[in-house]
Amino acid sequence: MDVASELIAWHRDARRRTLELVSDLDDSQVMGPRLEIVNPMRWEVGHVAWFQEYWTLRHARGESPIRTDGDSLYDSFRIPHDTRWDLPLPSMSETLAYAEAIFERVLARLSSNEPNPEEVYFHRLTVFHEDMHDEAFTYTRQTLAYPRPRFVDARVPTGTGRVQGDVEVAGGRFLLGATKDLPFVFDNEKWAHGVDVAPFAIARAPVTNREFAAFVEDGGYLRENLWSAEGWMWKERVSAVHPVYWRRGEGERWERRDFNRWVPLEPDHPVIHVSWYEAEAYGRWAGRRLPTEVEWEMAASTDGEGPSERKRRYPWGDEPPTAEHAHLEGRTSGCVDVGAFPRGDSAVGCRQMIGNVWEWTASDFRPFPGFVVDPYREYSEPWFGTHTVLRGGSWATPARLLRNTWRNFYTRDRRDVFAGFRTCAR
Ligand SMILES: [Fe+2]
Repeated sequence: MDVASELIAWHRDARRRTLELVSDLDDSQVMGPRLEIVNPMRWEVGHVAWFQEYWTLRHARGESPIRTDGDSLYDSFRIPHDTRWDLPLPSMSETLAYAEAIFERVLARLSSNEPNPEEVYFHRLTVFHEDMHDEAFTYTRQTLAYPRPRFVDARVPTGTGRVQGDVEVAGGRFLLGATKDLPFVFDNEKWAHGVDVAPFAIARAPVTNREFAAFVEDGGYLRENLWSAEGWMWKERVSAVHPVYWRRGEGERWERRDFNRWVPLEPDHPVIHVSWYEAEAYGRWAGRRLPTEVEWEMAASTDGEGPSERKRRYPWGDEPPTAEHAHLEGRTSGCVDVGAFPRGDSAVGCRQMIGNVWEWTASDFRPFPGFVVDPYREYSEPWFGTHTVLRGGSWATPARLLRNTWRNFYTRDRRDVFAGFRTCAR
């Protein structure tokens, strides 16, 4: 497929997903409550469209905006988060028409001329931006207990059950970060640089609901000595006594809220919707710790032959993710067992490093040496030092977005996102 056709297909795919996530909601649902962790979806749809127009049409091609008030409504860096509910936003149907008008222009430009490398860059940027917002729409639907999105089906993955134990990684010199052969990377991944890593042992699978329930039942949320001072303060502030979407059902059995319904807690699914603090406390209880991001990336990328200049793009090799490798794209409803997708194992034997749940790491989000900001200046730089790195992608993340070097980042208190974790031996 030529570059323009691939970009058109990606834009169409991302937009189809956006519409699937918002079109079944009513007028009050697309505004929703004013919460720090969500955006009003009616605003967010307009923002995705505005961002696409801003980079692919205005910035890359010098065109004029469709709406003269677009910048004052939808520029996420200029519009403070808690004021987004008070803006004179167009109605949902006007917002969708605005998005459609921009989308048609974008496709027309790609159809009429082969894009130059700069244009290609900005088309990809806006597809990936829409992909990230689509994941945000998905977890917003979970946060607000809206119905499960329509795109999920019930296809059964290969492999089920548990995967236990650790793999030993020899350590040594590792090239952390993106190598220059990748077609697109974000500024925060640049560039691969040598880091010395001590030998470590990392779990073959993320921590499961069964394992996390043992921590809860052992008084994990009541024992201050298991928590850092910051973590305990967070826990007290939000009154957490178990993960946010859990409750005790009939016969004291754990249940989990899956969008707008309660389901029995699946013992072999990875624990999801836990904050970094909960992951930290679990680690202390289990005599374990979170991997650093270099350890995580080494376990995912090394060829397994000790220190190597050769890195794998994905845990299983350089082949892009398929439905056999990883649980992505919302192919089934929410998580699957940690034993699923054996074909996606890394060379050292870690399963599901890509897909199912994002994994918290021990590492603060910081620039790599020699960091240079990319044109979308607000993507990484404002968040260095205040956010923590997650790796790997979740069941709701589009495959095209991910690779082993991809760094996600949230503040440590977030438990609305699709995040779990795996541990290392101390
Ligand atoms: Fe955005």
